[in-house]
Amino acid sequence: MRNFLVAALAASALILPGVARAQETPPLPQLNWSFNGPFGTFDRASAQRGFLVYKDVCSACHSMKYVHYRDLAGIGFSAAQIKAIAASVDVPMIKSDGTAGTRPGLPSDAFASPFPNEEAAKAANDGVVPPDQSVLVDARAGGPDYIYAILTGYTKAPAGVRVPSGLYYNEYFPGHLIHMPPPLQPDQVTYTDGTKATLQQEARDVTTFLYFVSNPEMEARKRMGVHIVIFLALLSGLTYAVKRKVWADVEH
Ligand code: HEC
Repeated sequence: MRNFLVAALAASALILPGVARAQETPPLPQLNWSFNGPFGTFDRASAQRGFLVYKDVCSACHSMKYVHYRDLAGIGFSAAQIKAIAASVDVPMIKSDGTAGTRPGLPSDAFASPFPNEEAAKAANDGVVPPDQSVLVDARAGGPDYIYAILTGYTKAPAGVRVPSGLYYNEYFPGHLIHMPPPLQPDQVTYTDGTKATLQQEARDVTTFLYFVSNPEMEARKRMGVHIVIFLALLSGLTYAVKRKVWADVEH
């Protein structure tokens, strides 16, 4: 038995590095996001285009149940636009006669989910629930760079790698085999501001939107940080001036 264990350990020491190498992912591309750095802001136009990508593409499979239509004000949608966006969605409800029906959405409603429950989500996605996107950017190492990498990282599987049906090869997904079919193609959406809908542009825009929903308070937080630094600088200057004045007449 002991010999067997030793042999098994030795064998795995030989095999495992090979497996680990096969599963390694390349370093993430480092994008220059508008929200990076202490003065970062949301690129409003990009985030609004990203909402369109979410609505037209991702929302067919991914829920975003902690986000409300009124939150869209944070990326510059007007009250009237938000009302119209919400009203275009059918929200399930129980009618006064007890039967199931729908009503137009309101700005105070949470984003509608594509599936009524996890079982239905699994059944439609080869046994895997597409993760909720409310805080997805923050839930993954690499944040926005990782999301962008996944969306643009579908490639042909290298020779010798078998991709079972229902799975797709993605350079950046841990283990490379992902249950999500490539969601973006060039011209998958029609941008109304004249921006060309390349795959990279769509990926950048939807990632900006996903970053916003995960961090809606980011701009306020960074503004507060800048104010605190300015305040501390002024306070240090003042303290120094007072010290000079108080000690000015003291003989050394
Ligand atoms: C046809 C259904 C479908 C569509 C459309 C879709 N996804 Fe997915 N997505 C999935 C499934 C299923 C998974 C789970 C994959 C897995 O765990 O193998 C997933 C996983 C992901 C992941 C997570 C990878 C991880 O680390 O767990 C990201 C990021 C993602 N999707 C982003 C998007 C974005 C952005 C869009 C819209 C542009 C989108 N998806 C559209 C089905 C979909």
